[in-house]
Amino acid sequence: MAERGLSRRRFLGATAALGAVTFFSMTPVSRSIAAALSPTASSLLGFKAVPASTADTIVVPEGYQVERLISWGDPLFADVAEFSNQLHKNTAANQKRQFGDNNDGMSFFPVDQQTAILAVNNEYTNYELMFEHQGKNMTAADVDYAQAAHGVSIITLTKQAQGWRFDRNGRFNRRIDASTAMRISGPAQGHALLQTNADPKGEVALGTFNNCANGMTPWGTYLTCEENFNGYFGSDAQVDLSPEFSRYGIAAVDAGYSWYKFDSRFDLGKEPNEPNRFGWVVEIDPHNPSSIPVKRTALGRFKHENAELVIAEDGRVVVYLGDDERGEHIYRFVSRNKYSPTDQTANRDLLDDGELFVAKFNEDGSGEWLSLAYGQNGLTADNGFASQADILIHARLAATQVGATTMDRPEWVAVHPHEPMVFCTLTNNKNRGLKDNQPVGGPNPRAENHYGQIVRWVPSAGQHTAKDFQWDLFLMAGNPDIHGGTLYAGSSNITTDNMFNSPDGIGFDQAGRLWIQSDGNYSNQDDFAGQGNNQMLCADPKTGEVRRFLTGPVACEITGLAFTPDQKTLFVGVQHPGEERVPSSFPFGGDSVARSSVMVITRIDGGVIGA
Ligand code: FEO
Ligand code: CA
Ligand code: CA
Repeated sequence: MAERGLSRRRFLGATAALGAVTFFSMTPVSRSIAAALSPTASSLLGFKAVPASTADTIVVPEGYQVERLISWGDPLFADVAEFSNQLHKNTAANQKRQFGDNNDGMSFFPVDQQTAILAVNNEYTNYELMFEHQGKNMTAADVDYAQAAHGVSIITLTKQAQGWRFDRNGRFNRRIDASTAMRISGPAQGHALLQTNADPKGEVALGTFNNCANGMTPWGTYLTCEENFNGYFGSDAQVDLSPEFSRYGIAAVDAGYSWYKFDSRFDLGKEPNEPNRFGWVVEIDPHNPSSIPVKRTALGRFKHENAELVIAEDGRVVVYLGDDERGEHIYRFVSRNKYSPTDQTANRDLLDDGELFVAKFNEDGSGEWLSLAYGQNGLTADNGFASQADILIHARLAATQVGATTMDRPEWVAVHPHEPMVFCTLTNNKNRGLKDNQPVGGPNPRAENHYGQIVRWVPSAGQHTAKDFQWDLFLMAGNPDIHGGTLYAGSSNITTDNMFNSPDGIGFDQAGRLWIQSDGNYSNQDDFAGQGNNQMLCADPKTGEVRRFLTGPVACEITGLAFTPDQKTLFVGVQHPGEERVPSSFPFGGDSVARSSVMVITRIDGGVIGA
């Protein structure tokens, strides 16, 4: 009870502006609406909001400037060809040494005053923008090219007179793609389900793909998270699909990438264990271009969004993880050993040994972390779990076994830099209220939820290692112009001037501003009228105020954010402008092919972003 009391005081302290005297006695929904009782005149938000936009450009507030840092296909080395708008001229050999496609999560690693590394995920490809045949006439060479556009790009930045710029001659430049060798590590290393013809020991996987969002460690490594890996596998043969494959969406029909037709590794009839080698968090040392990436199986296998890492007060490493699928879960890893600020070598394998948990949210605003340790909570051979490795490889099934809460598509998790508060975007869920395992309630309060919400929790006693937490909804996106008076209007911190749908990327700056990126419906019609293109907003976590900071070009998603330590430069990702051939020529204009790009944002007066 003492713990709960402390946690409650901390939570109330953090949300003092809510007038939250009845905070814990309200229902979850009314608590979320309470989150905006004084959403004006935030002292944290110092910029003038931008209006919604449908223009094919990126817009930032008055007093800010935005420039292109790097785009899909840009050479990472001096001797590599440029991307060609005559698409048939682009090759796998070049792409292996060019910036990958569909940039997503990214992290900034300072090296010295003039040098830094930006590690950037390259999530997937859009065949309609990549090939003149739009993917309808794939060849082996096309598949090679697509595979080379996936993975991670590590780029060197140098500080020039006009700010941080990409250095084509930089010594850290590196591509990691769908065929780069990487070590499988942790409890599932070598498990029979990870063994293939090419790797009978189950210890070395080839590549990483569908690298969604990211994380970084205080020991200087980058975490890249494998999300929708299932869509790359398929077969034209008769294949038996296990319930485990079904739970992960692995089927004979792929998502349209056609890799299995030209690369037998992706043919379920030939390599039935290959899919088990994906869906992990991969750790990369970006400072050493010849380092071997490591798949950390202790963090569980699912459709990973990001990996938000925080050092707990007792020194253990806590990693919060979302599994982005309708009705899936939020996870937490707690390392067995402690982080050493003085011995970086000792930290190297912290992510190999620890306990994985999954979240249960109760209606009354309480919640708990349920252990996924072998032998606990029914995770035994009787229920189909023969070992810890088995649990990690099939983490989704283990989460169901222990009674985890099914969520509205958990995307990014972000931890406040100064308070024990954790936020997770629940982007949307058309199945909520329609499927038996996804009832309306708790942090998922709306049926057929196409707007999304952000759940927040505070661990008991402010300890990220605690078993229990208290939660509320920080915001519910919605459309107050169309759905006034209903839950679909959104929480009361959502207005005509800041409305959006489908929160996805989130992250804090050092001052505690919460940055929110959207990956939603950009039709600007019907339920989404007035919301325009995907965008980036900024919120004050104490007052609940939300202000629109940036609008993206046509048919893009805004995803990926990284600040320089001085908080004066912000890198933002524009992913898949012009997808599905919605007309866009971002960022080069004219009749050029639309290309995913990382943008660099500064203030004209050189000040702190957002202040
Ligand atoms: Fe790659 Fe859930 O977004
Ligand atoms: Ca995302
Ligand atoms: Ca998304």
